[in-house]
Amino acid sequence: MKVTGCILILLHLFCPEALSLDVDKGAFYMAAVYEHRPVLTPDPKVPHTRRAALELMYKNLAVYEEQVKAAAEQGVQIIVFPEDGIHGFNFTWESIQPFLEFEPPVSLKTWNPCLESGRFNGTEVLQRLSCMALNGSMFVVANVGTKMPCQHLDPGCPPDGQYQFNTDVVFSAAGTLVARYHKQNLYFEDAFNSPPEMEHIVFDTPFANGFGLFTCFDILFREPAVGLVTQHQVKHVLYPTAWMNQLPLLSAVQIQRGFSSSFNINFLAANIHEPSLGLTGSGIYTPAKSHYYHNMKSQEGKLIVAQVPVNPSLECSRKKESRHKVSQTQGLMVDLPLDSSVCQVEQQGVRCEGKPVGFHKPTPAFFSEMMYDNFTLVLITGAEGGLQVCSNSLCCSLSYRNAALSGETYALGVFDGLHTIHGTYYLQVCTLVKCGETCGQEITEAGGVLDFQLWGNFSTSYVFPLLLMSGMTLDLPGDWGWAGHDCYMSKEKTSSGLVTAALYGRWYEKD
Ligand SMILES: *[C@@H]1O[C@H](CO)[C@@H](O)[C@H](O)[C@H]1NC(C)=O
Ligand SMILES: *[C@@H]1O[C@H](CO)[C@@H](O)[C@H](O)[C@H]1NC(C)=O
Ligand SMILES: *[C@@H]1O[C@H](CO)[C@@H](O)[C@H](O)[C@H]1NC(C)=O
Ligand SMILES: *[C@@H]1O[C@H](CO)[C@@H](O)[C@H](O)[C@H]1NC(C)=O
Ligand SMILES: *[C@@H]1O[C@H](CO)[C@@H](O)[C@H](O)[C@H]1NC(C)=O
Repeated sequence: MKVTGCILILLHLFCPEALSLDVDKGAFYMAAVYEHRPVLTPDPKVPHTRRAALELMYKNLAVYEEQVKAAAEQGVQIIVFPEDGIHGFNFTWESIQPFLEFEPPVSLKTWNPCLESGRFNGTEVLQRLSCMALNGSMFVVANVGTKMPCQHLDPGCPPDGQYQFNTDVVFSAAGTLVARYHKQNLYFEDAFNSPPEMEHIVFDTPFANGFGLFTCFDILFREPAVGLVTQHQVKHVLYPTAWMNQLPLLSAVQIQRGFSSSFNINFLAANIHEPSLGLTGSGIYTPAKSHYYHNMKSQEGKLIVAQVPVNPSLECSRKKESRHKVSQTQGLMVDLPLDSSVCQVEQQGVRCEGKPVGFHKPTPAFFSEMMYDNFTLVLITGAEGGLQVCSNSLCCSLSYRNAALSGETYALGVFDGLHTIHGTYYLQVCTLVKCGETCGQEITEAGGVLDFQLWGNFSTSYVFPLLLMSGMTLDLPGDWGWAGHDCYMSKEKTSSGLVTAALYGRWYEKD
């Protein structure tokens, strides 16, 4: 028994090629996400009749039906649609009411809205989604506004006698409602309540086990996102979102890729497509592969279909590169291949003895706002070197070589503090960014290439590795993980110019 356990740990750490090549067909399922351009009501604040609301929502549901059909033709077994994709956004508490579906109590055991349409009134949208799943013979995940009557004895019950939730619903391939999740971390949504109790929603399917759900802004908070993965062993996250891109650190595809990498799980994300509001960026991410879409020019929706491993932890995610340490020679900082004899493989990753030495601050540090946070930065100079920059308790370090920055300015930045604009959350961030007129400006094109290792002494263990390249393309770190108390990321031979490399840490306890 002991031997088996040992082999498993080794396989997990070294991720041999053979394992990823020899997986049989049953080790995958087919998934789809649809980036939907919704038909929106011109004025979400004015009252609508239920009939007018349904007419609008049917237009979106007709598009969903086409996509389920297209997905079925490709053998898709589960499809995810975005947050707000059917009803839209910017409602008030009152104005959304005709768009809400009646949601039966959670205690209800089984219900197939398509086959039992007379069971509850006010469930037209749920019925159509259920029929879509049944007709297409696939799991359908969609986001709807729901109302759920509550008792006035319940202290959280709103004065109208009903909760209004931002709800993800899941229908099985037979059309049965198998899961529903009420969004916990609302993003300034006056129309909705947070659920009275935080929900960890987990379900299995005939093709894979361990699916979990959360929605949009939830990705930045511990609960339910981290709890699903760490307490419930969720291996596949289904993620309806309506995410406005914010560069250089929080575009939709960056954070989606980062969540999958951070927890070594599959991540199925469907965003709204509305470039005029900065909404685009969807994808299917496995530990080793990214199938994604980001398009600010097209006015069309986009169906993404991909094969997904049933067990993501068996997929090879890290190409082991030689890691580097920095030593001082003749007053210059140079990288040397890290002597593997001083590194030991441990359960948490690779631990290396001996810290890089001789770091100093060659150029004066300066401050620049990046996404409303006051970063401390130092400029990158020369073809190789080592830099360190600190703020509060976080020190970020960079060693680099073969830098060809094509005349562009790059900087190493650190932020350790409470983010307070458009949400309150505590961040610890180490980042290597391309600067425009300011460092932190929104930039999508870059020509600078370099081999680097970025690391920092984080106080949180929740760090998302982000690597965004020119033209809004994603790359994966060559290696990343923990070495002692440092979280690190390394990359050699980037696929194109570097826009942002970051270790984006969330220190949940300090919120
Ligand atoms: C929703 O509100 C945002 C921010 O107030 C605004 O920019 C956007 O145009 C609104 N969208 C719609 C569809 O009304
Ligand atoms: C649905 O509404 C109709 C008309 O108001 C009513 O006759 C019927 O009893 C309702 N059905 C349910 C299940 O509530
Ligand atoms: C049901 O599925 C068939 C076959 O894919 C398709 O032609 C038809 O349009 C679908 N009907 C609905 C209502 O989705
Ligand atoms: C950023 O932080 C530094 C150091 O605390 C401070 O001197 C500077 O004024 C801050 N800048 C802004 C824009 O708040
Ligand atoms: C990170 O390193 C700096 C410099 O060595 C140190 O002052 C700081 O306390 C360290 N932070 C943590 C959390 O260990």
